[in-house]
Amino acid sequence: MKIILLGAPGAGKGSQAAKIVSDFGIAHVSTGDALRANIKAQTELGKFAKSFIDKGQLVPDDVVVKIVADRISQPDCEKGFLLDGFPRTVAQADALAKLTDVDYVINIDVDFDAIVNRISGRRMCVCGETYHVSTYDKDVCAKCGKPLYQRDDDNEATVQKRLSVYQEQTAPLIEYYSARGKLVTVDGNKSIDAVYADVKDVLNGNR
Ligand code: AP5
Repeated sequence: MKIILLGAPGAGKGSQAAKIVSDFGIAHVSTGDALRANIKAQTELGKFAKSFIDKGQLVPDDVVVKIVADRISQPDCEKGFLLDGFPRTVAQADALAKLTDVDYVINIDVDFDAIVNRISGRRMCVCGETYHVSTYDKDVCAKCGKPLYQRDDDNEATVQKRLSVYQEQTAPLIEYYSARGKLVTVDGNKSIDAVYADVKDVLNGNR
């Protein structure tokens, strides 16, 4: 099973991805996570990517396409994978089409008003867990006990830039995959569990 999760920043791609990969036993391929891992390790790629991410801009296509091409050729992707945050431009989608076919493109549709609140209240853990201050008020992770932190690009000014970049460069992929008969849109304004019920319906062939 090969899946693309599309959606604006804060739409809930990461939250849904965690549930999908756990239930369906496929690999989670997140370009955002891969770039942040490089930033943390202070690699040359990480230093280069940080200059774009901190400004809310996209990292150049050739860089992320190479990350994905390398990642999906790994053995754990043989049984399937979920692409979270990739593709984000038509050029990336064209590059992906040359690498592999996909079975599902799920677009998580969320009102922009809700997104700034979601992102500004997001708290992260190094183990990969994600929380929101409205539903979790502790400052350590419930799973591993490590301190929670806020992403550098989760401030309001950068979020506004990320949203305008999304509209200009990523939203055209809705039409791109719709024209190819691949796109299914789910209402991302519901609770995380209610959105996931709809996602599961899609993946189980019920929608
Ligand atoms: P990336 O890490 O991919 O970030 P993003 O797309 O901006 O998405 P987010 O991680 O912010 O949000 P999400 O949709 O995963 O939401 P989440 O589930 O966490 O990319 C970061 C940067 O890296 C980019 O800006 C770019 O610079 C670069 N980059 C990455 N990929 C690239 C590419 N392909 N090309 C070029 N550059 C690239 O949820 C958010 C919050 O809301 C959480 O607190 C969560 O608990 C809460 N929440 C989630 N769902 C719900 C719900 N249904 N109801 C209520 N709250 C919810």
